[in-house]
Amino acid sequence: MTLVSDADTQETTEDTGIQSFLVTFIVRRFNPEVDEEPRWIDYDVELYSTDRVLDALHKIKWEVDGSLSFRRSCAHGICGSDAMRINGRNRLACKTLIKDLDISKPIYVEAIKGLPLEKDLIVDMEPFFASYRDVQPFLIANSTPEKGKERVQSIADREIFDDTTKCILCAACTSSCPVFWTDGQYFGPAAIVNAHRFIFDSRDDAADVRLDILNDKEGVWRCRTTFNCTEACPRGIEVTKAIAEVKQAVMRGRR
Ligand code: SF4
Ligand code: FES
Repeated sequence: MTLVSDADTQETTEDTGIQSFLVTFIVRRFNPEVDEEPRWIDYDVELYSTDRVLDALHKIKWEVDGSLSFRRSCAHGICGSDAMRINGRNRLACKTLIKDLDISKPIYVEAIKGLPLEKDLIVDMEPFFASYRDVQPFLIANSTPEKGKERVQSIADREIFDDTTKCILCAACTSSCPVFWTDGQYFGPAAIVNAHRFIFDSRDDAADVRLDILNDKEGVWRCRTTFNCTEACPRGIEVTKAIAEVKQAVMRGRR
């Protein structure tokens, strides 16, 4: 393992005059075709303070070891595909700036927890999406709007579930939840967030169905209010608050 001291980390690139840093990344690698267990591999990467962890992973993949595997698509915090554990915290690699990390120490990067590891930083997301599908995350309305008209909703009614519309299904919340790690049965925060988005939508008529689903032994009552989910969410969604609102709605028996 290479430790990088303050003196080691600062150097100037002759071409640009912009200061660059040598940063050590220690990445938990796993190739199911050859490895019995994951192993930590370290890489020294030259970066700028404007770079993100995703840029470092690209540099490793493109310049050092093309076999390094991870998901990413938009690179701008929208698609939700690059959630990973960075120094033990769930983050999007594309939204984690190098300047916000302590680069005097190595930066540890590993796959999110609680989902089956497939390769390097890639996990099988199917159990996560199965829970998402289970809560019926789509509008269910018993009536049809007047021809040529929209379903009208007041600003106040829209405001009630505005926060939970921001979810990008990155799984940072669910895979930071200790109950989800140990249990494997719990729907997890993201599924509840997406149920909340429709339970509290005044245009939807299936709140009862979703509340019934979430009143199950795998549902909201497994939440232990640890706030890991809220801390992890890259969209700033108040995940624990949304879960609490769903719990209250379950107890009321209506939205
Ligand atoms: S609630 Fe936040 S952390 Fe959870 S899946 Fe949605 S965007 Fe990701
Ligand atoms: S690559 Fe799309 S959210 Fe990070």
